[in-house]
Amino acid sequence: MSLPHEAGEPDQYGVVGHPVEHSWSPFIHGMFAKTTAQNLVYRLFDIAPDDFRRETLRLFTSGVRGLNITLPHKQAAAELVNELTPRAARAQAVNTIAFFEDTTLLGDNTDGLGLTCDLEQNLQIDLADKRVLILGAGGAARGVVGPLLERELRLLTVANRTPFKARKLAAEFADLGQIAGCTFAELRGPAYDLIINATSAGLQGEMPQLPAGLVAEETVCYDMAYGRGDTPFTSWARSFHARRTSKGWGMLVEQAAESFLLWRGIRPSTKPILEALAQHA
Ligand code: ATR
Repeated sequence: MSLPHEAGEPDQYGVVGHPVEHSWSPFIHGMFAKTTAQNLVYRLFDIAPDDFRRETLRLFTSGVRGLNITLPHKQAAAELVNELTPRAARAQAVNTIAFFEDTTLLGDNTDGLGLTCDLEQNLQIDLADKRVLILGAGGAARGVVGPLLERELRLLTVANRTPFKARKLAAEFADLGQIAGCTFAELRGPAYDLIINATSAGLQGEMPQLPAGLVAEETVCYDMAYGRGDTPFTSWARSFHARRTSKGWGMLVEQAAESFLLWRGIRPSTKPILEALAQHA
């Protein structure tokens, strides 16, 4: 944990992704730093998969104290660090790395907490006994499956373009509850209570082809992606008259607050920033 600095060089943090220029994390961490009086800077680092290991280690040896990790590197980051928190070990995916002075690189995963906090506290959704569908089985999905199953869902289905990954993910978490993996085409009704998009398809303006019958008038559709206006996923959900659609702004802010807590020992209040970001949604 670091105490607020009166003066001196700011501590360095950032987010590594590819692409990453769309990220709002510098804005969020900048606001957190201001409201908690922490002397830090937070930057974007666009690093391609082939360079991820070398360039990320180089950032730490050049003085960076902590990094967020976003697509497509979350699983590679779990291999890079030399220690994992229990939740990151379970997910085999890392979205936060802290570099300690004894040269430990600790990998954590705050995505699950970010999502469940947004769903339960900000959106007031009770997850118990719900039928939930996750689209995607990459690093983003891996971080949230465990925390969702801990809510005693009735069923969690993971559907993915590459079916092997969905089945593997479901098998890894089968001890925590009812979970099944399948392809998009294998999905069947009855309609789900909650559908979460954890694919990166929207970044290419795409939406996976899904069978009809998954959305009913009570279904909530949550896109982990964020941006202005509708995403391909929220447009799809609206076309089936979903009860509610939501984008991942709240998850983004809540997972960031948990990363900040790991790095600085203070959990910033998320309410003011959620209100500030609401203008961009
Ligand atoms: P992230 O950290 O965002 O999860 P990732 O680990 O690269 O990034 O995973 C991306 C996810 O989006 C995967 O589930 C991927 O499907 P595959 O496992 O088949 O690659 C999914 N995805 C990406 N582009 C997609 C598209 N155009 N249609 C459907 N799924 C897509």
